[in-house]
Amino acid sequence: MSTITKLALGVMGQLRPRPTRGDARRSIKLPAPDKRGGMPLMQALAKRRSSREFARKPLPLPVLSGLLWAAFGVNRRGGGRTAPSALDAQEIDVYVALPDGAYIYDAKAHALKLVAASDLRRVTGYQDFVDEAPLDLVFVADHRRMRMVPVAQRESYASAAAGAIAQNVYLYAASAGLATVIRAWIDRNAVADALGLGHDEHVVLSQTVGYPRG
Ligand SMILES: Cc1cc2nc3c(=O)[nH]c(=O)nc-3n(C[C@H](O)[C@H](O)[C@H](O)COP(=O)(O)O)c2cc1C
Repeated sequence: MSTITKLALGVMGQLRPRPTRGDARRSIKLPAPDKRGGMPLMQALAKRRSSREFARKPLPLPVLSGLLWAAFGVNRRGGGRTAPSALDAQEIDVYVALPDGAYIYDAKAHALKLVAASDLRRVTGYQDFVDEAPLDLVFVADHRRMRMVPVAQRESYASAAAGAIAQNVYLYAASAGLATVIRAWIDRNAVADALGLGHDEHVVLSQTVGYPRG
């Protein structure tokens, strides 16, 4: 769907998900991430960049597993994560929009839990490439987990936390030969509706990931 169409539908509050092409599974257990592999950090940083041209090819489960673990997985005893959060509030939830459904990443179980049995990739941003790329992530801040953070700081702290997750995704993508772009140009009401978010949950950023086109 074109950006103009999305903008028009957005104004009318009509930007909606598509039916799924496959069968949405209630949960998807991810294989254990391969923590030994990957490119040396300095090389990954040298390759980090935003790309907006994606092949439609799906991401294999081991790649999705590595990507999500790198993004915001549990990396130590006690439940610590691969990205920081103020007061360790871990307020960001990573939603995973795939062609066959939208899921939330359960980092503790390293699994995906179904949230909506619809293809809501196109709702995750005004740009047209988000519709057909194999994966759009949505970073959502749950303000209920930030009770210890002064109210005036909650949004900026959540943005910083989401930014750290996004950079993890960028580095994993550089290492694994994937294309990615972080995006703030989102119809946040449409995404919140599609994901069934509550009043205390706030859509911060979205990020598209896939194989590069061509
Ligand atoms: C907070 C933030 C919001 C962004 N929003 C968008 C967006 O909505 N759409 C997009 O295509 N790129 C977006 N970008 C990506 C920037 O355009 C990109 O990082 C910038 O052009 C520099 O390119 P590079 O990432 O390849 O170094 C965003 C980046 C940041 C940090």
